[in-house]
Formats: sequence, structure tokens, C-alpha cells
Amino acid sequence: MARLYKTDVVSIDDLTLPEIERVFTLADEFAEALARGAPLAVADGLIMATLFYEPSTRTRLSFESAMHRLGGAVISSADMRASSAVKGESLADTVRIVSAYADLLVLRHPHDGAARVAAEYAPCPVLNAGDGSREHPTQTLCDLFVLRRKKKKLKGLTVALCGDLKFGRTVHSLIYALARFGANIVAVPTSGMDVPTYVLERLAAERNYSFSTVTMDELKSLAGGLDALYLTPSAPHQMALFTGDLAVHKAPAGEAPASLDAFYVTRLQKERMAGNEIKPGEYVRFDARALKTQRTQEAVVMHPLPRTDELAYELDTDPRAVYFEQAAVGVPVRMALVAWLIEQKPGQRSDPKPAGQSIRFKAEPYPRCANSNCITRFEGSHLPPRFRLARTLDRHVLPLRCEYCERELNVEFVGHARSHRYYRYDENLYGYVRQWIEEPSLAVFETVKQAEEHGYEPYRRGPQREVMNSGEIALAVESLANQIAADVGDLTNVYLIGVVSHGAVLATRVRDVLEKKTGTRTPCAAVDVYRSHEAMQELDGGAPFEVEGRTIVIVDDVINSGWTVQRAMTMIWQYGRPAAVRLAVLIDRGHRAVPIRPNYVGKNIPTSPAERVQVRLAPSGRNGKPKAHDRAMIYSMVEPIKTAEQVK
Ligand code: CP
Repeated sequence: MARLYKTDVVSIDDLTLPEIERVFTLADEFAEALARGAPLAVADGLIMATLFYEPSTRTRLSFESAMHRLGGAVISSADMRASSAVKGESLADTVRIVSAYADLLVLRHPHDGAARVAAEYAPCPVLNAGDGSREHPTQTLCDLFVLRRKKKKLKGLTVALCGDLKFGRTVHSLIYALARFGANIVAVPTSGMDVPTYVLERLAAERNYSFSTVTMDELKSLAGGLDALYLTPSAPHQMALFTGDLAVHKAPAGEAPASLDAFYVTRLQKERMAGNEIKPGEYVRFDARALKTQRTQEAVVMHPLPRTDELAYELDTDPRAVYFEQAAVGVPVRMALVAWLIEQKPGQRSDPKPAGQSIRFKAEPYPRCANSNCITRFEGSHLPPRFRLARTLDRHVLPLRCEYCERELNVEFVGHARSHRYYRYDENLYGYVRQWIEEPSLAVFETVKQAEEHGYEPYRRGPQREVMNSGEIALAVESLANQIAADVGDLTNVYLIGVVSHGAVLATRVRDVLEKKTGTRTPCAAVDVYRSHEAMQELDGGAPFEVEGRTIVIVDDVINSGWTVQRAMTMIWQYGRPAAVRLAVLIDRGHRAVPIRPNYVGKNIPTSPAERVQVRLAPSGRNGKPKAHDRAMIYSMVEPIKTAEQVK
């Protein structure tokens, strides 16, 4: 019986070019064997498990057909809604369990980076059958196989990628592969559906490769007369596109392309969109007219399928339409991939290492991936944050790349975990940050407030002075309670929600004063704007958290930019629709970045953006007496260090 060793294909870049060529050679052989009806026993005794958390026709069925054709067996969870995933089983646990039942996992998942997680947790090989909008490497093998079959080569071809290049995972894998094969790419995105920055940066950093983006109208013009009115033979970018004179490619194009070799059309990935990013009728519609020009008449038309309205059915009978062939070769190509896996021996190949230095974070706050579709946002309880230092052109942010979904997190504030100092990041700090990564003692913060919440002090804090003492704070708390009582009237329908941490303390203190004055104990909750799960907590066993139809009073200690309150509102809205929302703040500073105006203010302390107010607040003492150590301080904002100073 054949045996499989741990070899994962999460990205198309997990396969070297010779390995892809080997898969193609095997695919040619299997295609021929299938045509002859020759029986095969290559995978005899092996079991493939297909775990599909998203719908599929081509990928799953061609994988399963391929395994059967090779003499292997298949177990399938074609719809994970019928699996224990609906009971809350994590992806990590699922793949570990299924690895005990199968020799090979094929995974499709809606979240970016899910295949990376599966590959790390499963002891057997994992093949990525599409993870979120990130990659779909086995589709790319099918695409390249057909393109090479039609054009007899890949190097130097010019491929126009059309449509949804933002969410189209097949496009991303194809771009990485075409870049490595030395093909030229022309991106023709529908407006707003451009190739994402993280893909472009990976290409630039790892392959020193870039390509042009043009609109469909420009492409018509450049392609040499799709519409005679657009024909502009002397246009400079026409030369750029078809002769390689300008920055269309830094890739090694063997010869100057004089024509388009392929159109790769994609469907709008509606399922990955939040709302109405595209207006009806705005999306590309590709038909036979595109192939009528001198420069496009030899082009093949590709599509990973399924199609919706973007590809005219009239093309189906045109010999240049190769999309059904792309789907059909799914069987021999995936047979070839399994056979290639069987050929692998332990220690024979080294896994490709991603570029950049890996960063371990030793203490909270752990950075959170900014991509709301990243697998870490759904399986965060068992996935440690893992980022790499990425390259960027913006020197004012520290670019960290999530190791799972590859999206960048632009960090504005960094800290040193041992000295507990924080800094606004700029390029002068780069050397220090590298050192802190090595130690490891790097901390990163989304805001100054977050740094302060974790006990970090600003580096080079300027002169400080007290702006409120404990007595003044007690009066301000009393004033807030009076303003709320006078404004909302019926306190039984009010819910106080304090922003963690000082806002939450303040909320309970306002609640205590209100109770003393009115006899009504207002329920309190705390919202932690830095958490994605369980962000809301009831305070001291209050009534179950409920927003719907209530008057919500958000309570915070200081409004600096207004950003924190804005985020708190967004989170509260996830729990229901309040009847009204009010904002109570101990200190309002008056130079807000977002248009949020507090309804109830303890004290106005206008300061400049270069200064910061910090509040120290203790919970109510016995009998609601003010705490002696309550105080509010004002200090100069942290400045980046400009000279080489050692920070220990
Ligand atoms: N091309 C592709 O991935 O198709 P399915 O979604 O049907 O698998």
C-alpha cells in the first residue's frame, strides 16, 4: 500500500516550478490513461477526506473522482453544516480527528488562512481547495495546465485578468504562479475590485514582480481596436502593454508580447462582500467581440467557473473558449497531484519559508489581525497571534503581516515589554523594533489608550500637572449622574455601558450615585473595544445584557479622538437596536477626530493634540466616598526618539 508523508499544498508557492512541471507530466500521463480506459492502482489502500465548509461542484467532485480513478477511496463531508462544526468544533480539532480516518485531507473553507491552520494541526497532508479570498492552488494547476497545453509554453505569455480580482482566490494563486513562470499580467479589475495590496506586496517582495492595471476601456483601446474609436496607435501605454517598454512587468519576459494570449475572466464573489460594492450592470461582461481584434484573435478565454452573467454563452462553441476544459482537466491534474504526493519521501524537500522575521508576543495585548475574515478572528482561542515583519513604503507605520491570512496590520504604537514604555512608531525606531523582536519584548498597540490600559507609560513623557483631584472627580461623577437623571427621566429603561477599563469603573460609580439619588439601580455592563469575542460583560451580576429598545448610556473617562467611543457603538449595535444612545464622559477635550459629541460631560479640559489627559479612577469606596488616589493628569504626548538611545 502507498504511504503519504506530510506534504501540504496551502499556497501555489508551496510547489517549486520543477514540482509543478512534474505534476503536469503526470497529468499528461493520467489524461492519456483515462482516455485509454486503463485501470490504475496508484493510490490503492489510501483514503482521501474532503472537508468542504463552502459549496463546490468542480473541486470536490474532481478530487473525489481523481482519487477513485487512482484506486483510492474517499470519505466526504460535502456540507460541513451536517458535521460537528455546527456544534462549535474548531477547525483545528476537526482536522486532527479526520486525520485519524484518512491519509489525506482536502479542505475548502470560507475564512482566509484556514488551510494554513489545517496544515499545521493535521498530521497528514492537507491540500487547499480554496480558503476565503486567499488562494486556490489546485485550480491554478488546472489553469496553467490548460494554458500550457494551448500555448505550448507559459514564459512570456500575456494574460489579462478580468473582473473581481479582489476576492477571487483563483486569481491570486494564478498571479503568483504566472509571475514565477515569467508570464506578463495585465489586471483589468472591475472598479473597486483591484488586486489586493497584500498580493502585490508579496509579489514585489518575493519575486520583484509587478504588473499594470488598466480599465476595460483602456484595454479595449490597447488591445488594438475592440472599438475602432478607441484605437490610439501612438498611445504610450499601448507600447507599455504590448512591448514591455514601461513598468508592465519587471518579470523576465523573454520576448516582447505583441498580443494577448489569454483572457482570464472571473465571477463577482458576491458571497465575500459586505454590501453593495458593485452597482447592477457595472460588472464586466465578456463576449465574442473581445476576440475580434488582431491582437486578441489568438487569445484563449479562461474562467475557473462557475460563471454567472460575466461570460456570454455564445462563446461556448468557440474553440478559443477553454473553460470547460479547465474544469475537465481537474481529474487528471488532481490525480497527478495525489500521485506526486505519493512520490514524496521524508526529508526529500524543504518547505518554502515565508519572507520576513516571525514575531512572538510574550504578553497581552496580543495584536489582532485587522482582516475580519481571517481565521484567527474565528479560532482565536487556540491560535496564537503570529505576525511577520513585512515591507512597506509607508515609513510611519510598522507593517506586520498575519501569518495566516497575509494581510497587513499597520501598527502606530509600539512598546517595550520590559521597560513598559510605549512610542509612536516612525522609521527611526525600526532598528529598536528589530532588536525587541529578537529579545522578544515587542508590544504593539492600536491606540495610546490601549497602551495605557496595559500599564505602559509614554517614552519621554513631558511635564505633567494635575487637572482634577479626587474631590473634583467626585463632583464631576455626581454632576454626570444628575445630568443623566434629568435628561432620561425613566431610569428603569437605562443601561450604562462603560468602556473598559476606566469607563467601566466610572459607569459603576455613576450608577451608585444614581441609585443613592433615585432608589433605582441601573444595570451596568463593560465593553472592551479591543476584543472581538465576549466584548461585552455585565458588571456585578446586573441584569442580563440587553440593548434592544433601551436607552444606552456609553460611559468613558476621556474623549480624546472619539475613536474608542465609535468602536464601542459599533460593538453595542451588534447586540441589538437601542431606542436611544447617549454618551457620558468625565473629561471632554474638544478636539475630536470623529464627529461624536458627548451628551453629559463632567468637565471640559481643552488641550492640544500634542497633549494627553490620563485619568486614574478607583471603584466606589464604602458609602460612595471618593478615593484619595483618584486624579486626572495632563502631559505632553509621546514623541518618537530621534537619536540612537538605548531603551532598557
Ligand atoms: N472553480 C471552482 O473552484 O469551482 P467549484 O467552486 O465548483 O469547486
